[in-house]
Amino acid sequence: MKKNIILIGFMGCGKSSVGELLHKAFAYTFIDTDQTIEKDSGTTIRDIFAQKGEAYFRELETKTIEKMAESTEHAVISTGGGLPLRECNAKILKEMGFVVYLRVKGETVLKRLEGDITRPLLQGDNVEEKVKSLMEYRDPIYEVSAHLVLDVDDKDFDSIIDEIKRNY
Ligand code: S3P
Repeated sequence: MKKNIILIGFMGCGKSSVGELLHKAFAYTFIDTDQTIEKDSGTTIRDIFAQKGEAYFRELETKTIEKMAESTEHAVISTGGGLPLRECNAKILKEMGFVVYLRVKGETVLKRLEGDITRPLLQGDNVEEKVKSLMEYRDPIYEVSAHLVLDVDDKDFDSIIDEIKRNY
């Protein structure tokens, strides 16, 4: 059995909600990479993007996951949607544990994140286009980065947890 369960996928796919439930089901610690970054930097993701830019945030993500990899065991780790896009990060995740890609369709993301102001990449005009192009680029990367791919648009939480348990 792998040491940790790691959730990857697009913004709004349910990593945090599924992560919280897995944490209870397995009695594992729950870690969220975005929350860790916010805690360590004393500011929000939104402000990091606004003040230092995306490239700086991506560096923080890599540093955070490198540090986590040193000592994390028996944890459920919910990752920021962009974290596995760097090959070095994806490699670390696969070594750290069982990686599950929670896949959703663009329309599900748009429905769930309507009015959201916390995700800098999905602000302004043409959010639909942004979701579509980011997703087209990211989906194959998430796929190869995961041990298990689950299509979760219409799935209830219980069946998602069951499927993860069965495959872990
Ligand atoms: C991002 C996803 C966000 C957060 C940041 C960038 C991305 O996390 O890390 O806004 O590039 O997909 P969630 O996936 O938890 O929304």
